[in-house]
Amino acid sequence: MEEAARNSATGTKPLLRVLERERQKIPPVWMMRQAGRYLPEYRAVREKAGSFLDLCFNSKLAAEVTLQPVRRFGFDAAILFSDILVVPLALGRKVEFGAGEGPRLEPLADGEALAALRESIDQEMLVPVYETVAKVKAALDSKTALIGFCGAPWTVATYMVAGEATLDQGPARLFAYRDPDNFEKLIDRLVQASTDYLVGQFNAGAECVQIFDTWAGVLGPEEFMHWCIEPTAKIIKGLRQQVPGAKVIGFPRGVGFQAWRYAKLTGVSAIGFDWTFDRKVIADRFQSELPVQGNVDPVALLAGGAALMREVDDVLKTLGKGPLIFNLGHGILPETPIAHVEEMLKRVRG
Ligand code: CP3
Repeated sequence: MEEAARNSATGTKPLLRVLERERQKIPPVWMMRQAGRYLPEYRAVREKAGSFLDLCFNSKLAAEVTLQPVRRFGFDAAILFSDILVVPLALGRKVEFGAGEGPRLEPLADGEALAALRESIDQEMLVPVYETVAKVKAALDSKTALIGFCGAPWTVATYMVAGEATLDQGPARLFAYRDPDNFEKLIDRLVQASTDYLVGQFNAGAECVQIFDTWAGVLGPEEFMHWCIEPTAKIIKGLRQQVPGAKVIGFPRGVGFQAWRYAKLTGVSAIGFDWTFDRKVIADRFQSELPVQGNVDPVALLAGGAALMREVDDVLKTLGKGPLIFNLGHGILPETPIAHVEEMLKRVRG
């Protein structure tokens, strides 16, 4: 069937078509962290909102910042504006974002602290997030998809255990080695919480979700299997029991060829790659099985010019022959010039 005819028969959102494994002539584009500080209109709303979490829980303003990059650049998807750390918050942990700093949580040091966690997420608390989803959905045109998200249990646990961002996720790794039974309880709690949270996002109007496993790359093969692959597989299975056919993009950052087992065993609909992964290998080994997403180096986007064009052309040339969602290999950096984003989009769209 011709692409156009199929699209009119089964929906016209290119990103969702790719998740159905259908290559699009021009790949759909979005950027991780596309709503954020590189945009003056984001900084203006952020200032008005108060704290970062105030912004996340103000559905009117959160919907506005979700839509800003879509309006400005015409991205093929909006990604819900929220944060992966609203899940620990909804499990009863203290979470704060200081001005200009990373997150601060009360560290979860032992089994005793675990006992203080809620059994399941406080859905009441998350109502504003679901309202953001519904507001954004109502505002999007017929071409633009709405992506929900959560952090993977491992990545969220690294922040919960350390209480802050760390260089090597040492505190969570130490906890997992020293007290695997309690660490497993924490991961299980996060599996259930994340499943419920994603179901809530789908019910509110999300059309697909991404699971961010930003810190998957620090684990050895056995730990990666146990703390990343298995929990992610459980989330996806539980999600699909309640949302049949739910489309999930997995992003296990920095795991190298361990991505193979992740792709095979988690049930993801598509897999996102960071920029360190050999694109030829992605095309030959992964894209024949699954749609892929990525993977421009965010620093090349910051640099702009010839380096950016080389990077964009390489993604298109190497990955453009199969189902591709064009994206960065990680979030856009706050100091990135808007003109570079425009140049990138022009190159992709011709
Ligand atoms: O992508 C989007 O535009 C949607 C919104 C989104 C945010 N965080 C908003 C945000 C998403 C999808 C996230 C995910 C997230 N949050 C991850 C996984 C993806 C990744 O980038 O690795 C992680 C690890 C977090 C936790 C987190 N949130 C940290 C470590 C920080 C501080 C670092 C920083 O960039 O400031 C945040 C804050 C945060 N989350 C900001 C935004 C726009 C910046 C806060 C601000 O506006 O001051």
